[in-house]
Amino acid sequence: MSRARQTHWNEVYATKAADKVSWFQPRAAMSMRLIEAARATRDSAIIDIGGGSSVLIDHLLDADFADITVLDVSERALIGSKDRLGARAAEVHWIVSDILAWSPARAYDVWHDRAAFHFLTDAADRAAYRTALLKGLRPGGALIIGTFADDGPQTCSGLPVQRWSANALAAELGPEFRLIESLREDHRTPGGAVQPFAWARFERV
Ligand SMILES: C[S@@+](CC[C@H](N)C(=O)[O-])C[C@H]1O[C@@H](n2cnc3c(N)ncnc32)[C@H](O)[C@@H]1O
Repeated sequence: MSRARQTHWNEVYATKAADKVSWFQPRAAMSMRLIEAARATRDSAIIDIGGGSSVLIDHLLDADFADITVLDVSERALIGSKDRLGARAAEVHWIVSDILAWSPARAYDVWHDRAAFHFLTDAADRAAYRTALLKGLRPGGALIIGTFADDGPQTCSGLPVQRWSANALAAELGPEFRLIESLREDHRTPGGAVQPFAWARFERV
């Protein structure tokens, strides 16, 4: 795992309240909408890549999803979610790992990523992500990605990002992923700035 990446993210989550980071949202409404659109059932295996301390997990538990995994390079981010969830945290699988060094032990039905993929500015890193994705998402499964849109900010958390349109994401991911739906969202940060996001839902062919 990249030590620098881990140090950066642990420091972010150690020094900023979960509801003060720019990517905070009180409700993960777009994610839930797209997970429902993918016709996930309550026993679908869902993984949130770079899930941080997102409340998406709370929504999934509230909706009785029974096979939820969160992966993040920052253990502190996951501790934030575990503390918030209390006893319900035991119902979730937690993985501390850099996605680029992770080899999935199983294939999931839904792979969700909000604002993690866009940090991969090197083609080699995106290729490593794709390798994990191809192993970790079953054929017929749903890939849901939200990134800064091509007119979105150029940095996030002080790091450079790659901005995407849904079509550019489709070209990057290759023929194993069929674009089903694309949406745009203007995310309002806790500080009041507006950040355009591109959302895409794919089916793994
Ligand atoms: C901008 S935050 C988004 C968090 C969450 N998805 C949300 O919507 O609130 C990006 C997250 O990705 C995680 N992350 C960044 N690079 C990663 C990597 N290579 N592997 C795993 N997690 C990573 C960070 O620790 C952070 O929690």
